[in-house]
Amino acid sequence: MTPSGENFPLLFAPLDVGPMRVPNRICETTNSIGAGAMPGFPDDAFIEHHVAKARGGTGWIGGETIVLDSPLPAEAADEFHPGAAAVRIPLYTFPGFVEANARFVEATHAAGAVAVFQLTHLNHTLAASATPIVEAYDWTPHELDEAGIEHVLETYAASAAQLVAAGADGIEIHCAHETLPQTFLSPALNHRTDRWGGDAAGRTLFVREILARVRSRIGQAAALGVRICASEQRQGGYTLLDMREMITIIAADGMLDFVNVDVGHSWGAPYVQPSYYEHAQFREVARAIRADVHPTPVLFAGRVNDPVVAEELLASGICDLVAMTRAGIADPDFARKAREGRLGEIRRCIGCNRCIGESIDQSVPAMFRKPVCSVNPVVGRELEWAARHRPASECKRVVVVGGGAAGLEVARVAAGRGHRVVVLERGKALGGQVNLAARAPGRDSFADFVYFEENELSRLGVDVRLGVEASVADVLALEPDAIACATGSVPRRPAIAGIDQPHVVQGWEVLAGTAKVGARVAVVSQEDHFETPNIADHLASAGHQVEIFHKWTMIGSRIDRYSIGPVMRRIADHSLPIHTGKRLTAVDGPQLTFVDAFNGTTHRYDGFDSVVLVYGSVPDDRCYRQLTAAQTDARLFLVGSAWVPRQLAEATRHGALVGLEI
Ligand SMILES: Cc1cc2nc3c(=O)[nH]c(=O)nc-3n(C[C@H](O)[C@H](O)[C@H](O)COP(=O)(O)O)c2cc1C
Ligand code: SF4
Repeated sequence: MTPSGENFPLLFAPLDVGPMRVPNRICETTNSIGAGAMPGFPDDAFIEHHVAKARGGTGWIGGETIVLDSPLPAEAADEFHPGAAAVRIPLYTFPGFVEANARFVEATHAAGAVAVFQLTHLNHTLAASATPIVEAYDWTPHELDEAGIEHVLETYAASAAQLVAAGADGIEIHCAHETLPQTFLSPALNHRTDRWGGDAAGRTLFVREILARVRSRIGQAAALGVRICASEQRQGGYTLLDMREMITIIAADGMLDFVNVDVGHSWGAPYVQPSYYEHAQFREVARAIRADVHPTPVLFAGRVNDPVVAEELLASGICDLVAMTRAGIADPDFARKAREGRLGEIRRCIGCNRCIGESIDQSVPAMFRKPVCSVNPVVGRELEWAARHRPASECKRVVVVGGGAAGLEVARVAAGRGHRVVVLERGKALGGQVNLAARAPGRDSFADFVYFEENELSRLGVDVRLGVEASVADVLALEPDAIACATGSVPRRPAIAGIDQPHVVQGWEVLAGTAKVGARVAVVSQEDHFETPNIADHLASAGHQVEIFHKWTMIGSRIDRYSIGPVMRRIADHSLPIHTGKRLTAVDGPQLTFVDAFNGTTHRYDGFDSVVLVYGSVPDDRCYRQLTAAQTDARLFLVGSAWVPRQLAEATRHGALVGLEI
């Protein structure tokens, strides 16, 4: 706070970016979370999701990217798979495009923010050269010819003109994240010998031509900028020094009003950095780029979830604007809370990447896909929430059994609506499984969720009782009107010969520090998310010699592609052997017997001091069953993992919906 009493004075100072006055430095950079039903056509759900952040104090609203049309041959199929959306449809020419986007812009302005639109060719069907991005895709794209380039250049100019007609304050040309312009910038991907390739001047020509075309079409009606990745982090790709040369050349044309910079790609070293990265880990690249393009404002993006960090980035000359994108997904009101000095009330993004993982999960049909956040149950359901979140008409007495994620959310939402809530937790702390997750290396930010819940429950006057192993009689003695059984789950124990020997322990016990584990450890897994690599990493980091046995072809197959890189890098750094396709059939002292999942052959491995099981969990619904049998008049709910063990987002959402229902 300044002597004048102002919180975060730099963060909340306005900034002129070309013709656009940004009310403060907090940016929702483009995040295609899929809030609306139809890409490119903001509907009520889309507007409510993104504009909620503007109402919550974010000054720059980036919305979701506009995918531009590609020059596909008449008979070629459109490509929609992740990272390769090559479509032939010029959405921006469709009837209603300008009107739908104008509604979004008006709502953004009414909430006090500016609307910046990103234009994207996210496209590896067509590229600068016929060079595959082998790290991410196993196909070779088609090299754009002159006619194709001309088609693409025109899409940028025409779509920008439509968006300016809709009232856009800013237009951002997406040149990072394996987009078509980045394939031109990249020496690893651009092998052209014509004017669009070669040295830095040649490789930047495509981007410079886009900017010139757009500028000639929109004039000074909107700010114009680029999103760049400062360092490609790919074998043979451009380095920070190369990018400094390229951005200097691009800026010299005088077309740029802003530069939005991040680091990373869509695999291995992700630009949506998960919890394994430091906050603003790549901050120094922004300082370098800022020096090159001065006085053009620079926006930095990369795991900034705390206003204190954002203020420090501005104060130390790293950047002029700060992306706090997932910060706004986790808590759309974080900026207002920061300005009002209510830092303890901010629900921080924990860097789990469920949001982006879900948004590109093609296994879920688009019509069923909704935005998801592990800690914010409202995301993707803003309209439903606005309609249903009402003060309770009658103050009820609510007992929540279990203080894990689901129980905490029942308590928070019910208390927020005016009910009197008691939480009974048998452990010494709130948080349940979240506390276990937070003990794995690189996952400590999960504890931020528990910190938020503790603060909120205390602020809302919830009666939290720790160390209480609640019996049915204890619960009923509180004379509840509603009871939420959020008793979580317990590790699954498979029926395998020899499993009851003392050296066979559960992964959760390892994380909790309650299991005695010997020097040489077999981690035996039938789990596909973070638990297996996290537990193996935890053990290896503590000096154990670890081998992983997994039921299928790979571990972590359900981990999103923006998190799998740092997770597997840690496994590789420890040089942990992974035996795939192995299912445990017997434990005989130090000897383990497995059957091969594919050909049924038997395999024996010897010499293990400990066996750590990672087999997922089963619901612990005993409390619910006993209360049902007691035929209480109270309304009974079975919530979260006690119903079905899933992930954190499902637990928080289930709990919050029960809190709404009471
Ligand atoms: C769900 C989701 C979708 C995203 N989609 C885009 C996108 O379409 N274009 C883009 O340039 N960046 C996209 N991003 C990246 C963000 O703009 C931002 O750079 C990234 O989240 C890191 O910033 P943060 O740490 O403040 O969240 C997306 C991020 C998320 C979480
Ligand atoms: S899903 Fe995870 S990474 Fe995404 S905003 Fe929520 S807490 Fe952050």
